[in-house]
Amino acid sequence: MKYLYVFLLLCLFAISCSKQDMRVIHEGSDDLTHLLNMENHLNLKFESYATAIPEYLKAVGMKDLEFDDDKVALGRVLFYDKALSSDQSVSCASCHQQHRAFADGKAFGDGVDGQRAARNSMALGNTTNFSAHYRAIRSNTAPSLLWDERVTNLQDLTRAALTNPREMGMTMPKVVERVENKVYYQYLWKRAFGRTEIAEQDILDCISEFVSAIGSTTSKFDKALIQTSGEMSVTITDTIVSNIYYNPDPKPDTTIVTTTTLPFFNQSEFRGLGLFVANCSPCHSPIRPFQEVFMACNGLEMNYSDQGLGNVTENPAHNGVFKSPPLRNIARTGPYMHDGRFKTLEEVVEFYSTGVVEHPNLHPRMRDENGSARKNFTAQQKKDIVAFLHTLSDDAITQDERFSNPFK
Ligand code: HEC
Ligand code: HEC
Repeated sequence: MKYLYVFLLLCLFAISCSKQDMRVIHEGSDDLTHLLNMENHLNLKFESYATAIPEYLKAVGMKDLEFDDDKVALGRVLFYDKALSSDQSVSCASCHQQHRAFADGKAFGDGVDGQRAARNSMALGNTTNFSAHYRAIRSNTAPSLLWDERVTNLQDLTRAALTNPREMGMTMPKVVERVENKVYYQYLWKRAFGRTEIAEQDILDCISEFVSAIGSTTSKFDKALIQTSGEMSVTITDTIVSNIYYNPDPKPDTTIVTTTTLPFFNQSEFRGLGLFVANCSPCHSPIRPFQEVFMACNGLEMNYSDQGLGNVTENPAHNGVFKSPPLRNIARTGPYMHDGRFKTLEEVVEFYSTGVVEHPNLHPRMRDENGSARKNFTAQQKKDIVAFLHTLSDDAITQDERFSNPFK
């Protein structure tokens, strides 16, 4: 009943707001969407970005996500707008492409004037809202942004991408000027902010709001956990998910997965889950609340040409330390690692099997109980891990029109 009232109130609010907007913007026009589409070659619908979080994630503390939909819609246009780069050839979406789960398929993304970004473009789906959730429950131990986690919030990150000479090559006053010169932003600003003056902070806020909204929880792995935990109480769900997923003390040859299978999983995927939990999950959690290690040296090479966190802190103990990504949609986001050195997941798993080097900063979690950092997986085990990694793919993210390019 309470919800019904809230819903009705929201409807009334929505109707009154939109009517008012249209009167102000364009006398005699009754449809803002139509107007935008006719005049500006934009294909923009105003939709809800509210995200329902499945029970099994709520059980571990996540909450449904709510957004200011008009700001997300505006942020979506900005995210895809090449006018926001110095030579008008690059947008955020050049390096963060929807069909690749918001990575770009290259070792180093293409910036303005034929330049290359310094690192591999990171996938965006779910990254930020899961991080934000983590930040809320664990405060200062939450994962931050970028391969060296040097940025803590999306607004700063957006400013950095816009002004990075290798990415979009702008100054913030120039960004504001470009936005002011496009007629469609006048409409969108009026709708989102109730005014037409454009402030730098608005731009950063809206792009951040859009990036935060990109997410989904409908991978095969999610579906299996949703079905398994389905009807049970929150406490039981928590225990089951923890048991399926969480192994505080990984031992390579044991598996804490006690069920005999998961719904929708074939035997190979299921064995892969066991291997993943035993060898990988302390550092990579597609279910963020279970990730313990946010940054680590995973022993890619002895003399890193990019020192990662070490560049930021100048502490030798941080050399070769990088963010350890959540791996949602990992099958879509290659090439892999901060420098895109591995083209396929098979190469990545081969690296963990036989390629890890004895770097002085190698994270202790990289070693098994015998102290070995090389897992020497069998051919079948390698196949199983790759099969499991594919269960983290989520087509909702790559196909959802609400995250797609709004320019016709
Ligand atoms: C030229 C390619 C390029 C462009 C354009 C670009 N990015 Fe990125 N993005 C990257 C690279 C490379 C990284 C990792 C950089 C690093 O670690 O130093 C990254 C990282 C990120 C991250 C961090 C993700 C995480 O999990 O830590 C976010 C968020 C992001 N970009 C959003 C944006 C937004 C928003 C824009 C537009 C304003 C944008 N990017 C434009 C290449 C690009
Ligand atoms: C001690 C922590 C740790 C463990 C254990 C670990 N990784 Fe990683 N992983 C990392 C870090 C850190 C990176 C990023 C390294 C870099 O780019 O320099 C990474 C990168 C990756 C990537 C590439 C991600 C991307 O977006 O490019 C994949 C895939 C991956 N790991 C899979 C695995 C698998 C599979 C296992 C288990 C066999 C595993 N990892 C075990 C820390 C770890």
